[in-house]
Amino acid sequence: MIDLHCHLLPGLDDGPTSLEESLALARALVADGVTHVVATPHVYPGRYANKRSSIAAEHARFVQALAVAKIPLAVSFAGEVRLDPEVLDWLAEGELPFLAGEAAVAGKAHKALLLEMPDGQVPLGADRFCSMLLKQGITPVIVHPERNRGVMEKLERIRPFIDLGCQIQLTAASVIGEFGRNAHTTALQLLEQGWVSVVASDAHNLRGRAPRLQAAHAWLAEHYGPAAARQLTLIGPAQLCGLTVPAAQSPPA
Ligand SMILES: [Fe+2]
Repeated sequence: MIDLHCHLLPGLDDGPTSLEESLALARALVADGVTHVVATPHVYPGRYANKRSSIAAEHARFVQALAVAKIPLAVSFAGEVRLDPEVLDWLAEGELPFLAGEAAVAGKAHKALLLEMPDGQVPLGADRFCSMLLKQGITPVIVHPERNRGVMEKLERIRPFIDLGCQIQLTAASVIGEFGRNAHTTALQLLEQGWVSVVASDAHNLRGRAPRLQAAHAWLAEHYGPAAARQLTLIGPAQLCGLTVPAAQSPPA
């Protein structure tokens, strides 16, 4: 599986606070069946002052530590970008952390961006903001709308974003009901509508926010079939990250 939303890098946000914690999370991702993870720290003006260049530096250090620790996990980086007017400045400065990384910056892969709205609401004008990004060739991937109170209250609040061409990422723990009943119900409704492109861990640590992709994959396979589970945890994320995926092996005759 490819996990395209994970707070893996140490000391950048509310994820791991030390290299040891990050390496432990990396081992847990491998044990959970993840072969490639995109490290996506919060990019949140006024709270987490991360941007593409600073995340790149931390990512390079972490990849070395991962090799020393002999952990068999491919790690690229992007960011979970807060919906904020400063996004436009970073775009102009080449500081937006796209899911496909440098290939996207160089125009050799699609420009997709994890975009986070405030948990309590869908802000007025958010759709116009997304429309502006789309006009610049950037696809907003709206992260965990099933945990957004505004969407929980009224699913239709997310429809304008789908109609524009935005994509949706669910959190694995929501799919299996570990983010509460409302998030689970909303996740299900979004899946039923066919609006979901990707399920990702959004893991932060090994305590309350551990990776749960394996369990989510099993749940999806049981309820929607193995092809849908593969699409949401491997093919969908690969497309957004500019990665190629080996063809599915057919079962032995
Ligand atoms: Fe996140």
